[in-house]
Amino acid sequence: MGTSIPTASGELPVIGHGVQLARRRTEFLASLTEIGEIVEINMVGMPAYVLTDPDLIWRVLVSESHNYVRGRMFDKMTEVLGNGLATISGKAHRDTRRILQPTFHRQQVAAYGPIMSSTAADVAESWQAGRAIEVDDAMNDLTARVVNGILFASDLGAAAADAIQRRLPVVMKGMLTRTLIPGAWQRLPLPANTRYRKAIDQMDSAIDEAITAYRSARADHSDMLTTLLALRDEAGKPMPDQWIHDQVITVAVGGIETTSAALSWCLHYIGTRPDVEEQLHRELDTVLGDRPVELMHVMALKYVGRVVQEVLRMHAVAVFMRRTLGPTQLGAYELPPNAEIIVSPYTMHRNARWFPEPARFDPDRWSRPETQNLPKGAFIPFSAGHSKCIADNFAVLEITLALAEICRRWRLRPVPGQSVREITTGATRPDRLTMIPEARSRASV
Ligand code: HEM
Repeated sequence: MGTSIPTASGELPVIGHGVQLARRRTEFLASLTEIGEIVEINMVGMPAYVLTDPDLIWRVLVSESHNYVRGRMFDKMTEVLGNGLATISGKAHRDTRRILQPTFHRQQVAAYGPIMSSTAADVAESWQAGRAIEVDDAMNDLTARVVNGILFASDLGAAAADAIQRRLPVVMKGMLTRTLIPGAWQRLPLPANTRYRKAIDQMDSAIDEAITAYRSARADHSDMLTTLLALRDEAGKPMPDQWIHDQVITVAVGGIETTSAALSWCLHYIGTRPDVEEQLHRELDTVLGDRPVELMHVMALKYVGRVVQEVLRMHAVAVFMRRTLGPTQLGAYELPPNAEIIVSPYTMHRNARWFPEPARFDPDRWSRPETQNLPKGAFIPFSAGHSKCIADNFAVLEITLALAEICRRWRLRPVPGQSVREITTGATRPDRLTMIPEARSRASV
């Protein structure tokens, strides 16, 4: 007999913990740490097990990962991502990851640096001193332009880039809600459902058209779509169009909202914490002087790195899931076959045992001993194991370059009286973040 698993309180008949998952998702998940290292919740009629202990998380993601496949969340994502890298399991995942890995190799990612910094420069250039900007929209625009620029350097991909830029936010909003709150409502002809379906269809057909146009042009556009079209399987055959389609949409879904959320939070904290802003500006002035940021500066931007790390801790992805294959022993607990497991980086990163004063934004914790010896599984912004984010280096490089380029030019001031609300879609992002740019010169520091 395994140790019994506690259940979260506040469960209602029929809907279980549906209200908490819909309205107070991150607070609810973070509160489970108090109850146990594994806690059962009711996802509207479906039991799921939330892990709050780093050792259990490490077993599921890394050392005992052979006992699990992707869970319900990924089944739902298949509607959008098809057989993209982020949704498949087992051999199909291993093969696809091996084929795609070189596209995200450190050296290849370094080659994306110029697009990342020039896009940030363009976005920062478009602002005017004193004229308020919606930072969350601006950062979404920036990261969508980076991902689109890397995917499609040719005009043949312009319509696909446009569809991704405009339709993806609608899709991201619908996807997590559909995962956590199952039900027949998803098939009803409600305006939200119609919008969601239409947005997926528009992205799908624009990406298919780009693939067809690239195949006929047979040119090297020095972009990711050209690389994907040139890939071969084990038998030396080109990858099918649908496979390429699914990887393109996976990169867009995985790479735009996550990085824009992190960038927005960085700008929020820099703008509201004079101590953080001062240290950051001092470093930018020392490392960059009056020059635009380039790849060669990144290693020296140590404080910027700590700011990014702290945002990845505080506003991590709310959930991703796994499912047991058969009856499974997880530490002291016995899980039934097909049990849905929730890993919540957000919950883990808000645990005071590993991160004292977890609600405090404190970039310097990353230069103190307390974070040097964290247990494996305690800090997992990009997950861990064979499905760890394939683009973790890409994301950190993009955020670092964009922050440096924006903050060397502007101080972004919060609008007085604005309170910033955190919402979770694919990422955990600020709902609305309005800030006012003030021009900055080195002399003003
Ligand atoms: C701050 C930014 C980002 C965060 C926090 C993040 C987070 C994550 C997490 C937690 C996973 C793993 C889920 C699991 O274990 O099941 C993941 C997987 C993935 N991410 Fe990211 N990501 C970020 C940026 C990006 C970017 C920029 C791209 C693409 C350009 C990307 C593409 C992917 C892909 C393709 C996977 C699937 C990997 C696999 O299953 O082998 N991500 N990401």
